[in-house]
Amino acid sequence: MAYNKALNSFCDADRLDRELTEHLSWVRKTLPEGGPLLATVALEHFTAIMAHELLNDPAFLEGAEPGYARLWLWHGLEECEHKAVAFDVFRATMTGPFREYRRMLVMYLTTLTFLRFIAKHCIALMRAQGLAKSPASWAKLLWNVFVSPGLMRRIVPAYLRYYSPAFHPNDLDDRAALTRTRKLIASWS
Ligand SMILES: [Fe+2]
Repeated sequence: MAYNKALNSFCDADRLDRELTEHLSWVRKTLPEGGPLLATVALEHFTAIMAHELLNDPAFLEGAEPGYARLWLWHGLEECEHKAVAFDVFRATMTGPFREYRRMLVMYLTTLTFLRFIAKHCIALMRAQGLAKSPASWAKLLWNVFVSPGLMRRIVPAYLRYYSPAFHPNDLDDRAALTRTRKLIASWS
């Protein structure tokens, strides 16, 4: 709540959140049977591979306000913990020779939407801070996202592994990062 309040103090985060919720409910109504589950599986892969990077390199939270850094670490932990749940539901409930190809197709469509939302939110945040017309600020943002620490660049190999018929989220081993992060979180209390 405090995080959202802080975010809302300089940009309309509630509106962005509302738009995303509306889009997801449109997806639920529009996609054929099994589509919403596959979209969830795809989004869970995105959040899991981003969380994997976050938990494995302190550089991502360097300079962050300590309270927010803790929130992101906790969020990263829980994303990694439940990363295979939707996928296992998919494997247990969907049948047919093309199920893995449907999964990949929905990932491709979800990627387009996901990137569009990220770009939209970045622009909104830059505008809210009066930086939307500053090439230096855009360069700094792009450097951070694609070069150093480069979250979007780093997730590419794990993202591409989704397009294998044999893919499973647990192929990416998070056990060491989970143990380390759980110990760290336990030390906060
Ligand atoms: Fe999740």
